[in-house]
Amino acid sequence: METLQGMKRTHRCAELTVNDAGKEVVLMGWVQRRRDLGALIFITLRDRSGIMQIVFNSDTNPELHQKAFQLRSEYVVAVRGTLALRSPKDINRDMPTGELEVLATELRLLSKSETPPFFIEENSDANEALRLKYRYLDLRRPDLQRNIMLRHRVAKITRDYFDANGFLEIETPVLTKSTPEGARDYLVPSRVHPGKFYALPQSPQLFKQLLMVSGFDRYMQITKCFRDEDLRADRQPEFTQIDLEMSFVDVEDVIRINEGFIQTVFREVLGIEIPTPFKRLTFKEAMERYGSDKPDTRFGLELVDVSDLVKDSGFKVFADAVAGGGSVRAINAKGAGSFSRKQIDALGEVVKTYKAKGLAWIVIEEDGVKSPISKFLSEKELSDLINRLNGEKGDLLLFVADKNEIVFDALGHLRLDLGKKLNLIDNSKYDVLWVTEFPLLEWDEEEKRWVAKHHPFTSPMDEDIEYLDTDPSKVRAKAYDIILNGYEIGGGSIRIHNQELQNKMFNIIGFTAEQARERFGFLLEAFKFGPPPHGGLAFGFDRLVMLLAGTDNIRDVIAFPKVQNASDLMTNAPDIVDEKQLEELCIKTVDPGDQ
Ligand code: AMO
Ligand code: AMP
Repeated sequence: METLQGMKRTHRCAELTVNDAGKEVVLMGWVQRRRDLGALIFITLRDRSGIMQIVFNSDTNPELHQKAFQLRSEYVVAVRGTLALRSPKDINRDMPTGELEVLATELRLLSKSETPPFFIEENSDANEALRLKYRYLDLRRPDLQRNIMLRHRVAKITRDYFDANGFLEIETPVLTKSTPEGARDYLVPSRVHPGKFYALPQSPQLFKQLLMVSGFDRYMQITKCFRDEDLRADRQPEFTQIDLEMSFVDVEDVIRINEGFIQTVFREVLGIEIPTPFKRLTFKEAMERYGSDKPDTRFGLELVDVSDLVKDSGFKVFADAVAGGGSVRAINAKGAGSFSRKQIDALGEVVKTYKAKGLAWIVIEEDGVKSPISKFLSEKELSDLINRLNGEKGDLLLFVADKNEIVFDALGHLRLDLGKKLNLIDNSKYDVLWVTEFPLLEWDEEEKRWVAKHHPFTSPMDEDIEYLDTDPSKVRAKAYDIILNGYEIGGGSIRIHNQELQNKMFNIIGFTAEQARERFGFLLEAFKFGPPPHGGLAFGFDRLVMLLAGTDNIRDVIAFPKVQNASDLMTNAPDIVDEKQLEELCIKTVDPGDQ
């Protein structure tokens, strides 16, 4: 193997342009491919900028040609040569440097490589588990390189934007205290305090509020958060937030600064101008129209409430749902009347995964309807339903009757499924909106108590405070989420900064004064010393980058991600540790089977 011996790289492969033709250049990188054409050997050399063709000619330099013959894919080389324009017939229009090639005069073999377990190429179809095991090789692939570089750029734009707006980046601890509510914590045992644990932060929430008490006024941080929750395609156990908090603000101020941020990111990264102010939907409207608090509003297929039309219906399923305090809602799948029975049954399966008991349907035909429920409906009910849903010939009307929560969830997901099946989603469109006025509290059926929907420091809306004592379900919060193409990319709220109100909130969610002091004592204590009004928001940085990168897999924008079961296939974490380490921590493990 050779060394650099003073050789210095002059450029990255794809940074060279036709204007550089004639220059002597030194490039370094990985061999993508070697092609032998008798007297000529062509190498495509790859670095993070892209690829460049290198030519070794046995007529001009037989020794070098011989040396190039030994090169294999993924060998690391340094090449000196002259940058030349290709003859017109050899130009490759599919390659950014396709008009150029380097005529090699010197070659150093810096490192050899075994044959990689999968081919390093754009859009690899190699199995993801294999790619994750060899993530460092996977990360050589141009699409992942672009994603990771994009991530860097978005981080840079973020810091610049918030810096220009007076935000200070301040780090908060990673070893902190477990606080209840939210997802499950990751715990870290303390050696010095046997039997005691740190928790990794689910977010810097309490610390950023304390920074407001300290007077920093505008804080931001790009920071890791840890949540032991069930993973999905857009969730990781450790993920990154763009976290921010501001003093002396109300909802509108937080919204304005963050609209500016998203606008800047889209302008600088994608060259797309997103007009402000962004669209807004209240939580109630989002649920009623889209069955979701993170609606994808790039297409219609809105939900329609038909409860009033069927509350006295002979179809018991409908009448009972309304009588029980639930509702009957429907979607008109325009033009889907041609779906086969099998396709309609598949829609039924979709709603069943969201706990709906069934999916009633009506196909509007030339001369009447086809429907398993029409026999239970009166003529008037049928025609009222069709009218309410603007049903026309060729439409498929789909109904779910249940508790509201289930109806929204089932139809909300059915809507997304239909949007895809009917090809209604324009993937080139970016749709961003705020969802506001979330309920402050949710009733937890299992625990039989109110729980904070966002977190217990979220402020109620001023006009709803009076209902805290009488009807907590009615209280809306000064909370807002920001939604991009149906993904929640961020969320936040104005916080409670009044001690009395905070105590009341703890009281409602079933914390005794004692418990609140034990868990959040430091915050409550701090709030005795002049907390300013404050509020903030956190973006899911990985999700934002994922959407900017045009992928729907969060792992594609994280250098070393974890898989569904929260393990890292490359390092094999989590793993067992030495008995000695456990002893030091005074920890004994039990076999889960013995529990
Ligand atoms: P929240 O819990 O809504 O708010 O989190 C903010 C944003 O973080 C992203 N996110 C995730 N991304 C990937 N994997 C996960 N497991 C994951 N969980 C959340 C989402 C979400 O919108 N402290 C509050 C913010 C505040 O009130 O200021 C908070 O953490 O995009
Ligand atoms: P059944 O009389 O139970 O066979 O139901 C007749 C039709 O109503 C079937 O197409 C069921 O899928 C549908 N159905 C049953 N329960 C519900 C429900 N809760 N909401 C909507 N449709 C339902």
